[in-house]
Amino acid sequence: MWSRAALTEVRAITDGLMQPKAEISPKYFYDERGSALFEDITRLPEYYVTRVERSILQRHAGAITESVGKGGVVIEPGAGNCEKARALCLLLQAREFVGIDISSDHLQESVRNMQSDMPWMHARAVAADITQPVHLPGDVPTGQRLVFYPGSSIGNFEPAQAVRLLAQMRQLLGAPEDGGGLLIGIDLPKPVHLLQAAYDDAAGVTAAFNRNVLAHVNRRIGSDFVPEHWRHRAFFDASHSRVEMHLAAQTAQSVRWPGGGRDFAAGERIHTENSYKHSLAAFASLLALAGFSKHRSWTDEQGWVALIHAWQQ
Ligand code: AVI
Repeated sequence: MWSRAALTEVRAITDGLMQPKAEISPKYFYDERGSALFEDITRLPEYYVTRVERSILQRHAGAITESVGKGGVVIEPGAGNCEKARALCLLLQAREFVGIDISSDHLQESVRNMQSDMPWMHARAVAADITQPVHLPGDVPTGQRLVFYPGSSIGNFEPAQAVRLLAQMRQLLGAPEDGGGLLIGIDLPKPVHLLQAAYDDAAGVTAAFNRNVLAHVNRRIGSDFVPEHWRHRAFFDASHSRVEMHLAAQTAQSVRWPGGGRDFAAGERIHTENSYKHSLAAFASLLALAGFSKHRSWTDEQGWVALIHAWQQ
């Protein structure tokens, strides 16, 4: 028997597949294989985002520390393996780390490792879906909280959703006088050939990552997608300033699942991801709409990626 939550999820996925332009939410990229493939992507020569963001944190360590302050509480929504927060907690000599993620086993283990490597800091895991309001344990100190959201993940949300998510992050900071802030990474607009290569790498890792969503959906809804029959497509849509990823049927596909199905013509696509490339000015507007009235930012020499410290006055 399927639970009510599982049925709601099945309905959401099949509704997406039945749209005139079929779509699958990018959250279904991240099953075990998809998460491993994403880690591979972050090490690809073409995928600059992770590498450049790390270099910004190193290069501007002094200014960032001065801006956000030392010894506070670092909160990371969507923490995963906590790899990026580690470097930040060390830099800031954080007093406490709170990792939030939907997949709690993986998170618990990462947080345990972090705790044993940094014994002066209290590290803990909170299992929660960050797109919903998150309630932190009552004993998390209220002063000097820093929400850390690196990796340009905010770019995977539609701008209106991004504002909602940013506002939820602001809620985690408490009152303005508590001195909290947000440290967030964004991927800036850049020449199209660089974006094209980053989202369609020569080794085909991003293609495998994209196709894997179909294997995951098969397990979730009992469908019979054959991932190898779908081709990875990635392109920059200048009118929205976003990279779009799609899967295109190589030949006509007849896909079935319990209670339904859809026939796809050869070449017909399923939209799997948007990755917005916000300019600093455009992102400052989203921050303001979410209630962050002040910000400061740092970028790499080429201006590809930005780390932004935002706060409420
Ligand atoms: C997780 N997120 C920021 C990645 C991005 O760049 O939008 C996901 C990704 N999709 C393809 N490659 C990486």
